[in-house]
Amino acid sequence: MATGTSLSAVFPLGSRLNERGVLEIGGCDAIELARTFGTPAYVVAEDDLTARARAFTGAARQLHPDMQVVYASKAFPCTAVLALFAREGLWCDAASGGELHLALAAGFAPERIVLHGNAKSEAELRMALRHRVGLIVLDNFDEIDRLSGLIAEGDGGDRGAGGQPVLVRVNPDVRGETHEKISTGQADSKFGFSMDQAGEAIERVRAAAGLSLEGLHAHIGSQLLELEPFRRACRQLAALGEFPVLDIGGGLGVSYLEGQPAPPSAEEYLTAIVAALDRPGGRLLVEPGRSLTANAGVTLYTVESVKQNVSRWVAVDGGMSDNLRPMLYGAGYEAHVADRFGGATECVLAGKHCESGDVIVRDALLDDPRPGDVIVTPATGAYGFAMANNYNGVPRPPVVFCAEGRAREVVRRESFEDLTARDQPAPVQHDAQGGG
Ligand code: LLP
Repeated sequence: MATGTSLSAVFPLGSRLNERGVLEIGGCDAIELARTFGTPAYVVAEDDLTARARAFTGAARQLHPDMQVVYASKAFPCTAVLALFAREGLWCDAASGGELHLALAAGFAPERIVLHGNAKSEAELRMALRHRVGLIVLDNFDEIDRLSGLIAEGDGGDRGAGGQPVLVRVNPDVRGETHEKISTGQADSKFGFSMDQAGEAIERVRAAAGLSLEGLHAHIGSQLLELEPFRRACRQLAALGEFPVLDIGGGLGVSYLEGQPAPPSAEEYLTAIVAALDRPGGRLLVEPGRSLTANAGVTLYTVESVKQNVSRWVAVDGGMSDNLRPMLYGAGYEAHVADRFGGATECVLAGKHCESGDVIVRDALLDDPRPGDVIVTPATGAYGFAMANNYNGVPRPPVVFCAEGRAREVVRRESFEDLTARDQPAPVQHDAQGGG
């Protein structure tokens, strides 16, 4: 493969192979990064995050007088990522008390936070009220009663005459083309009110004390590469009446593999939404997660062993603890030797975990991989860090931000001490004599 060249759009913006054929992310040499920060490591090109945020906010500004871009923090819930998007003027979607805590800690103004969830606890609702979040998205009838009840008990604080601003989540009965586990807009779903119930939900919220109905929300699913399902969801929302706020969720897909058809751009996506809603006034919200972060990040691993058991098994120092997506959704990734791109050895890139299914890339083409090689898997910036875990006692990787040739750790690697940090000391043993 040519050197000194930029790489496919699967890689972060500005990635290239330098003159020696070594991958550079944000101007930083991947082999150096592996040496400095260890592996596995999540490496993020800061400029890529900024550029994607600006593509969304720029298009939103052009297309509508009041369209806000709400970062779905579940995609990459790390303070540095959240803080960058807060600085870029985005809003934040928090789907739990924990994500709300992260959003506040990262500097999002509470009025720019949207609280989601199909099973919010009383404690989470109280927390949202106490911090005066901008919008709480109501998912079910129980929650309407619960939130209204908490406010009646005085938990809402002084919200003024209007009360707590809320949206009603509607399930628009739209099924987009994606993995069934991340499809949410079909009629039989755990999220939101069905189209049949939406009218009653709207009336009950209007009648409930302390709640101010601002509008409707729908989120039909994730990793959607076609615009038509979004248009259909918009038309379903519009059919339910006029509201000051419409939030059409997230879901825009990304490329994971070179040569895959490119997903719609932020501008194409927002243009389709604005056209389908055909609503010059009011406020529109969109909630991109994956499309803001997936291609900004790569993961670096080190090869520990190579063996020929029918297939050539290349085992690295991470796996399903840092990227659960292949295991959960059969998600496909590319892999390359970070300083020898363009190989032709067919390999199974396997993780280190005690399960046969722990395979990162089933059909990798690598250049004669050997122990010690640094392997890169691009497009791991969304739902990798987010769903990382400690299976087999493997500490979670650090997050390294790279920009203009400088690298800094924004999340440190977990330590073995972290693995026992929450364990309570064993009860003191009283022996027979000392028992007194
Ligand atoms: N808004 C709501 C209410 C959501 O539930 C989600 C994602 C988003 C926005 C952002 O969707 P995005 O733009 O990222 O597609 N773990 C799965 C993805 C689950 C998405 C859950 N909800 C994966 O790794 O593919």
